[in-house]
Amino acid sequence: MIKGLEGVIAAQTAISQIDGINGRLFYRGIDIDELAEHSTFEETTALLWYGRLPTAHQLESFKQKFINNRQIPYEILSLMMAMPKKTPTMEVLRTAISALSPYDPEDLDNSLEANVHKSLRLTASMPTVIAAWERIRNNQWPILPRTDLSHAANFLYMMNGEEPDPKAAAVLDKCLILHADHGLNASTFAARVTASAMSDLHSAIVSAIGTLKGPLHGGANEQVMRMLLEIGNPERAEQIVRGMMDGKKKIMGFGHRVYKADDPRAAWLQRLSREQAETIGPRKWYDISEIIRKTVQGAKPLPVNVDFYSASVYYALGIPIDMFTPLFAISRVAGWSAHVYEQYSDNRIYRPESEYIGPVNVSYVPVEQRG
Ligand code: COA
Repeated sequence: MIKGLEGVIAAQTAISQIDGINGRLFYRGIDIDELAEHSTFEETTALLWYGRLPTAHQLESFKQKFINNRQIPYEILSLMMAMPKKTPTMEVLRTAISALSPYDPEDLDNSLEANVHKSLRLTASMPTVIAAWERIRNNQWPILPRTDLSHAANFLYMMNGEEPDPKAAAVLDKCLILHADHGLNASTFAARVTASAMSDLHSAIVSAIGTLKGPLHGGANEQVMRMLLEIGNPERAEQIVRGMMDGKKKIMGFGHRVYKADDPRAAWLQRLSREQAETIGPRKWYDISEIIRKTVQGAKPLPVNVDFYSASVYYALGIPIDMFTPLFAISRVAGWSAHVYEQYSDNRIYRPESEYIGPVNVSYVPVEQRG
């Protein structure tokens, strides 16, 4: 039995490749560094779904389809309005995506063509769900998506009601590119397991959202920010982190099953966090993060992962903490979708075995005779 399936190859994929020894990541063979430098989330999504970079004409048409599919049915907004205001955003997202499936015109069609349409509608409209929730829970009316803004800029606009600074939109766009796919991580595996039963795309994405939510996976970015806030001051950082490590507590944002070197996405996010600290401030979240990193890595050879610096980056963008993991989902839905298509294209249901370690030959005892 291999606990946590470490090292087990459970699927073949042509979507993304992780070089854990050298700390590199490729989408469809292209280094993530090049994509973060030059691409956009929309273009990266097209790359993940269609296997190659789109031509200028294909990209324009793809972006237009994104724009045309940003709105969500009023019934979904009503459902959200009926939810308790204290509901964490990840729970709202999980519920809304499930509720969206009967409104999809191709709900019952599981062809590749219909699934690409469905993922487009889901990917385009997920930011609308999340931004609407931020407004609803603050007793404000949701804002209709704009048709002249990028995916990232439109999300910030719908959250805050004002056109974002282009620099903030560019930072968010890079974050979306960096989170879009990552091999057979837990949520992608969950999506593929659901798809392998020949269930539908919405169900696969709901499985993935439920998995991403966990603090050992996508939920870690929220925990990192809570830790930064709790530390509060660079002077306290080293002592607190040492105490956590002495108490054998895991430090969120560190460790990875595949990376032995630092996660290449973390290098980008570190740079973005530093730039924000130097321009918009305050500096202290970056400074505390640096002390934590040095303290953790000075004690244990743990790689820093994608969730560590994304926390301070999102916080500087003014995004509420419980929206950090939903932001991860906004991006990763691109990868999940590509994996669902890939799973359907050469499917065999996932059905591993378990090793039974419970009692044997136990007799049934009638209820009145039980002590
Ligand atoms: N802080 C402190 N120690 C950590 C650690 C962390 N964040 N991550 C791993 N370790 C230690 C474990 O305690 C264990 O030490 P031991 O061998 O002395 O018992 C060793 O490193 C292996 O950790 P393990 O939890 O078995 O690795 P895994 O491959 O099963 O789990 C993670 C990978 C990512 C779930 C794990 O590193 C973790 O929980 N990290 C924090 C959550 C996080 O940032 N998640 C986002 C991932 S992108």
